[in-house]
Amino acid sequence: MLNNALMRERDLAHIWHPCSQMKDYESLPFIPIKSGKGPYLFDFDGNRYLDAISSWWVNLFGHANPYINAQIKEQLETLEHVIFAGFSHEQAIRLAERLVALTPEKLQKLFFADNGSSAIEIALKMSFQYYKNGGEVRDIFISLENSYHGETMGALAVGDVALYKEIYDEILIKTVQAKSPGLVSEEEALESMEEKLRHYAGRVAAVVIEPLVQCAGGMAMYDAGYITALKRLCEEHGVFLIADEIAVGFGRTGTMFACEQANVTPDFLCLSKGITGGYLPLSVVMTSDDVYRAFYCDYSEGKSFLDSHSYTGNALACMAANATLDIFEKEHVLESNRVKIDILAALLPPFEELPNVKEVRQRGMIAAVELEGYAPERRIGLEIYRYALAHGVLLRPLGNVVYFMPPYIVTEEQLIEMTDVAYGAIKGSL
Ligand SMILES: Cc1ncc(COP(=O)(O)O)c(C=O)c1O
Repeated sequence: MLNNALMRERDLAHIWHPCSQMKDYESLPFIPIKSGKGPYLFDFDGNRYLDAISSWWVNLFGHANPYINAQIKEQLETLEHVIFAGFSHEQAIRLAERLVALTPEKLQKLFFADNGSSAIEIALKMSFQYYKNGGEVRDIFISLENSYHGETMGALAVGDVALYKEIYDEILIKTVQAKSPGLVSEEEALESMEEKLRHYAGRVAAVVIEPLVQCAGGMAMYDAGYITALKRLCEEHGVFLIADEIAVGFGRTGTMFACEQANVTPDFLCLSKGITGGYLPLSVVMTSDDVYRAFYCDYSEGKSFLDSHSYTGNALACMAANATLDIFEKEHVLESNRVKIDILAALLPPFEELPNVKEVRQRGMIAAVELEGYAPERRIGLEIYRYALAHGVLLRPLGNVVYFMPPYIVTEEQLIEMTDVAYGAIKGSL
């Protein structure tokens, strides 16, 4: 009979888990999951956990969603995968057409990859090579302080979360960070950006941002006005704007894409995570015909964009993405989310009364409660994680920021349950 203890033992014999100090598992065992249904996960001992973080922000419509399951099964009988250089397939074509229709008109071309970090690498490489193809070397990328864009070397280089980046500093490409509107005023952040753009004039290939919410950077939130003004600055200085909507795309901030709220068309739009409803790894980088044309020439000119990944445009993943978009359309998800966003908002004020709470914030289907007064050694986030699991809720605080990023199928009762448990954990940590 399989149980948690046995599965842990077998796992630990060979598996090195991501984003983990493996020794921590001696005192806080990880949870082997047997199955999922809707917003719930079930372990091998029969315990149930409410997934308040959409399994690392990917799961939009619940685990084992019957519709997505059926669509993937259908695709499985047709085509699982095909090399994407020299070949194509129906699900990728459908998905490209639909994403182009959903995003600003200027974004007509789409490059597939298979995870968020790779999408960032592609956007960085494309923007660099765009200029190189035109005979110009632009060797600087500007990003925001406190930003997170993934863990591959280029993505880490434009990120600014010391926990992940610092160790690798010596081997990362040179990047520059401007102040974040999530941490300082919009005005100060724009001044800082302008100063960097002036200082590195002629050398900057692109500015990369996480629109509206710096998720891994403790759910730091800012207003759309910053993005609008930033786009203007990028145009004035003739540099690309890369919008990393890997975490915030597909309805998370209330609109399908966060940039919509700023009325901005980025030069590159990176999408992943929720794109497949949390089923399969897939990412895309969307860009303009102008950019595309800068690479379009005879092969012998050496201007091709030769980036590739084996699982690029995977057919099952594209089908999952098409199924996800079907649900958005058929179930008017953005509208029904508006009600859930209001319910979530109504559940937040009690947190503000707690003396160990510094700030409570929300953007659409993301809410965060920032705690204060804890020394880093205490690892308050881990305490809260442990408490929540013992009470049947999966929360995964980022340092001292407890947040909710539930799947969109969450009910009012489940929102109450997850906020009640978080409240109990925070109050109990006083
Ligand atoms: C904004 C943002 N960009 C990029 C990434 C990297 O995506 P992946 O983990 O799929 O490589 C993440 C992952 O959390 C993210 O939040």
